[in-house]
Amino acid sequence: MTSISSLSHRKAWCRSLRNAATITRLKVLGCLKTPQCYAPIGVGAGGDTTKRFDQVAEQALVEYLQRFASFTLISEETGTNQVGASPIDYLVMDPIDGSTNLSHGISFACISVAFCTAPNFGSIEAAVIMELFQGTCYHAIRGLGAFKDSSPIQPAKAESRRGNLVVVDDVFPPTLSRPNLDREEHPPMQYIRHFGANALELCFVADGSIDGFIDLREKFRGTDLAAAALILNEAGAVLVNPHGEPISGECTNESRYSLIAARDMQFYRELQKRVYK
Ligand code: IPD
Ligand code: CA
Repeated sequence: MTSISSLSHRKAWCRSLRNAATITRLKVLGCLKTPQCYAPIGVGAGGDTTKRFDQVAEQALVEYLQRFASFTLISEETGTNQVGASPIDYLVMDPIDGSTNLSHGISFACISVAFCTAPNFGSIEAAVIMELFQGTCYHAIRGLGAFKDSSPIQPAKAESRRGNLVVVDDVFPPTLSRPNLDREEHPPMQYIRHFGANALELCFVADGSIDGFIDLREKFRGTDLAAAALILNEAGAVLVNPHGEPISGECTNESRYSLIAARDMQFYRELQKRVYK
């Protein structure tokens, strides 16, 4: 059976996702104060080591959300499971994105969760990405736009004069310059970063904090990308695969992607020239 996604249904899910993330965030922050929280407890469905804090996050999200509906859960940690008696909707989540940062005591991580009517990128209806330490909340509802807390967001404008900042989660020349490109026409990128929580970094493209994001490792899990994909699309940013096509396909643990996100098509083309000969 396919879920009916009326606007009120999408809005209701979005509200629940935000509430769930708010509660989960507090539980994870409490957990992080205890040494046991950093203990590995197994290998997650996505293939990475699950730490106790990853488990605490997933359990808190599910515990809250199952009060309102049954759903099929697709999580980076426990994989695909039915929650409740008769699931129609899907929740796709990376309970903690930035686990490696947390393990090293670095305060940069987020909770990422999306509501979908089917487990693919064409069926994502509402999404929430909440930064763990400050509680800044990005959300999007299909057809209604993307927001940072309660303010609408949009990508950076080309004319904003502050130098282009690009996240690169891959191995490229450090300035993204190529010997075959004219340096006058394509000067080296001024600022390259990678902060270690890709879902949150994609929100930075959506809200105009950064200009682009490149990850061509063919490793970005569908579960980790689902929420960010809707937030980028609803904000009006570009999100494409290496062929320049919109990301399509499954948002599951098994599906892996390479991608470029950019503030606009012109900047996407500029990045594209620098990563392909
Ligand atoms: C990781 C982060 C990181 C990216 C890794 C992801 P995790 O999440 O998003 O930026 O380079 O590929 O797995 O494993 O630290 O939660
Ligand atoms: Ca994770």
